[in-house]
Amino acid sequence: MTKYVIRGGKPLYGAVEISGAKNAAVAILPAALLVDGVCRIENVPQISDVTLILNILQELGADVRTINRTTVEIDCSHIRNAMVPDALARKIRASYYFIGAMLGRFGSAQVALPGGCDFGGRPIDLHIKGFASMGADVDVKGGIISAQAAGGHMVGTTVYMDMSSVGATMNVMLAAVLAEGTTVIENAAKEPHIVDLANFLNSMGASIMGAGTDVIKIRGVASLSGGSYSIIPDQIEAGTYMAAVTATGGEVLIKNVIPKHLECITAKLVEMGAEVEELDDAVLVRRSRPLERTNIKTLPYPGFPTDMQPQVAACLCLAQGTSVLTEGVWDNRYRYVDEFRRMGAQIQVDGKIAVIEGVPQLTGAAVEACDLRAGAALVIAGLAAQGTTEISQVRHIERGYEDIVRKLSGIGADIRVVVTPDEVKAAQVG
Ligand code: EPU
Repeated sequence: MTKYVIRGGKPLYGAVEISGAKNAAVAILPAALLVDGVCRIENVPQISDVTLILNILQELGADVRTINRTTVEIDCSHIRNAMVPDALARKIRASYYFIGAMLGRFGSAQVALPGGCDFGGRPIDLHIKGFASMGADVDVKGGIISAQAAGGHMVGTTVYMDMSSVGATMNVMLAAVLAEGTTVIENAAKEPHIVDLANFLNSMGASIMGAGTDVIKIRGVASLSGGSYSIIPDQIEAGTYMAAVTATGGEVLIKNVIPKHLECITAKLVEMGAEVEELDDAVLVRRSRPLERTNIKTLPYPGFPTDMQPQVAACLCLAQGTSVLTEGVWDNRYRYVDEFRRMGAQIQVDGKIAVIEGVPQLTGAAVEACDLRAGAALVIAGLAAQGTTEISQVRHIERGYEDIVRKLSGIGADIRVVVTPDEVKAAQVG
């Protein structure tokens, strides 16, 4: 088993570089299926979710070439219409983007139901409703989603999202770019990665207007052609490092970010006692005064992101007074609370509300990451705690954070990876 061992209680100082956005990359890479020719995609984060998506593309017959650490070239011109392998699809939530992309390219798709972090129910009814309104017959049987467009191709229409869904908005965009006629998505999600997917598709010849607002219009085009595109920086990775400095104190320059995307996070960290200076493509975060309590409700963009909720909870555990967190997106995103309690945190959860009573200090403990952002939050708690924290199940963290141990060590954290002998032996045998 691989663990992170952290000796906490040290403020962070220095500079850290943010990678490309996970939730943009996992949609843009499958979107290459829609393109006739070579797509060169830059600023691709080196994380295990991206590796999985690239493996799926290769299994489908795409030619995937790694140009350098952050650049891939993908050519899907000769791809066949095959089922997305069950074993790969169920490991990752974003495998659902292959449904929209394959419906757009072939007029049919077969993909196993997606996996991903467990936050209670994660339905995909809005995706299915969108595809059905564009003329697809969608059936879910034996854990497989099968979709078939009547007449062999998707037809543009108006799709109303009953709630703001990132995945359903992007999936309908993918199914619509090569469809006959115009598709209008109403009550669309507005996250930065939605705009990034639209910019990628437009740069390859699509006609998408309004991404970033709640009405997106997609005029179907006959084909897309190859080109180059660079993925935006990861808003949540940047926010995680901002929260880490807020928890530990210190001063860190967080580079390669779009400060505008961070405003919803900055506002709350400032209320908690951090100082944040916005530069062109960086933010300087420092915290020298005591942490203060606040209340936070997570909401779709431009609200405070649910994907930052566990990380700010780590800060609030050390803030003076009582803070109230309200989870406004997922049914159950507090599974990490028991692990925080092992470190001395005082948190009560009732449904979507967590009440955090700040304590003067957290104490290192052996804890387990139960999902990606919960894992990142335990890292932050460990960095701020007195003593040694050992985090297991770090594979969850590595799904979405490139080189987190190296990046944190670079800003003065005492964190190392420990691989237990069992795993070393298994690796030698395997
Ligand atoms: N929803 C439905 N029906 C649907 C789709 C969504 O009821 O068909 C509901 C969900 O249950 C949830 C809400 O709508 O209550 C929002 O879900 P959304 O579809 O926006 O989430 P998602 O696309 O599955 C993405 C990110 C998540 C992030 C959410 C919200 C990816 C691969 N995942 O999930 O990221 O929490 O948007 O911003 O883009 C993470 O990175 O740690 C992560 C979990």
